Amino acid sequence: MSESARILVVDDERSMQEFLEILFRREGYEVTTAGDVASGLLCLENDEFDLVICDMQMPDRSGIDVLHAVRDGMLDTVVIMITAYASTESAIAAMKEGAYDYITKPFKVDEIKLVVEKALEKKVLSRENRLLRTQLRGQVRHRSIVGNSGVMQRVFELVGQVADTKTNVLIAGESGTGKELVARAIHDQSERSEKPLVAVNCGAIPENLLESELFGHVRGAFTGAVQSKEGLFESADGGTIFLDEVGELSLALQVKLLRAIQDKTIRRVGDTQDRRVDVRILSATNRRLEDEIAAGRFREDLYYRLNVIQVTLPALRERVDDIPLLVHHFIEKYAAELSKQIDGMSEEALDRLTRYAFPGNVRELENVVERAVALCRGGLIDADLLPPTVLEPTGTAATSARIPAEGVDLEALVNDYERSLLLEALEMSGGVKKRAAQLLGISFRSFRYRLEKLGLDEPDASS
Ligand SMILES: Nc1ncnc2c1ncn2[C@@H]1O[C@H](COP(=O)(O)OP(=O)(O)OP(=O)(O)O)[C@@H](O)[C@H]1O
Ligand SMILES: [Mg+2]
Repeated sequence: MSESARILVVDDERSMQEFLEILFRREGYEVTTAGDVASGLLCLENDEFDLVICDMQMPDRSGIDVLHAVRDGMLDTVVIMITAYASTESAIAAMKEGAYDYITKPFKVDEIKLVVEKALEKKVLSRENRLLRTQLRGQVRHRSIVGNSGVMQRVFELVGQVADTKTNVLIAGESGTGKELVARAIHDQSERSEKPLVAVNCGAIPENLLESELFGHVRGAFTGAVQSKEGLFESADGGTIFLDEVGELSLALQVKLLRAIQDKTIRRVGDTQDRRVDVRILSATNRRLEDEIAAGRFREDLYYRLNVIQVTLPALRERVDDIPLLVHHFIEKYAAELSKQIDGMSEEALDRLTRYAFPGNVRELENVVERAVALCRGGLIDADLLPPTVLEPTGTAATSARIPAEGVDLEALVNDYERSLLLEALEMSGGVKKRAAQLLGISFRSFRYRLEKLGLDEPDASS
């Protein structure tokens, strides 16, 4: 953007026009100048600008009129006001009217350069965000939540009921059960759907940054805060904020969040005034917050504010009925993505899937299907394309084995078990036999011998 960005300078002082024109031309921008508000407005009508630098006090009219023209025309243009040293009040008024920033006279070259650079950066970002949001909104219609089991039908019903209220919703469920998907569905079905849905992963942002991320900060609030910054709560104004992994919030931030909910105001870090925000809060957790409360790690009062309604997503193993539909859904998705012609999945493969416990829930099933589609040469996906973890779940099975009255074939059972362990180790090590042997606590020689014995040895070069 910096190459081709277009700047309009509106200032009645000829020397200032010239100064800014030369400065920003040298920076590679295209610069147009206007000597009063009337001609500035004319420029805006006839041309497109990325950024306007506008003097606040001009003989004919106030610079605020330029700001209004940009705002009322909903132009995609950022405005920076220049004010006289003594008039911070009018500067603040300009900010309230939607100016991106202001700079007071006299200013240094570096100062105005920095402000303009930041403003243009922000402009690119906000345009990209808007683009992303519209794309996301388009996708949502195709990105359906699949499920025909009774429990999921009840979840859909609940989602439909709460969507169009202002109620805060806590979405609980094991990892990979679709919590984020449900949060998006609630937002999309709400009257806020045209406003942003801002998602924050509370567990992924370092604690010392999270407060400023959520609530913003003012210029000079801490070292490095060269610009004031709007927080995610403000970005989500009128819309929805999705606090993912809300159980990870520190107690200090829990207090601030509680205040934001109760008073519907937030305060930027370093600021002295509160700002009103209208935000609906959806949160998600895969921890049991009741346990966190008991352990003194989560505030009970906040819990009740967030958990006005709870949507609990059942683990996939509790809704085995959904597996065939989900499989179908993911085959379609990945076959299209990989441009493959896949007819479906064999009875046997489906049967194997329904008998597997899926500790990683729908996400794990999705990965399994994606892998199978990638490996499939067309036609039906058969059981041999499922990963060993699914085919031969190991672990407690062996130790809890019961010998039926008619007896067992020990040799065959042990061989079967050994075979599944060898295959799983190979899968985990990406086919590297040395690592697979380590995983099983045996020597490389012993590993190779066992592969041969069980007829698993393939004549390949890996070691
Ligand atoms: N019912 C469903 N229908 C279709 N796709 C689903 C469904 N549930 C989950 N998925 C898919 O499974 C993956 C995991 O879902 P999601 O990210 O919503 O889970 P999550 O509960 O937020 O997991 P985590 O706790 O690990 O963040 C996503 O790719 C999502 O699209
Ligand atoms: Mg998630």
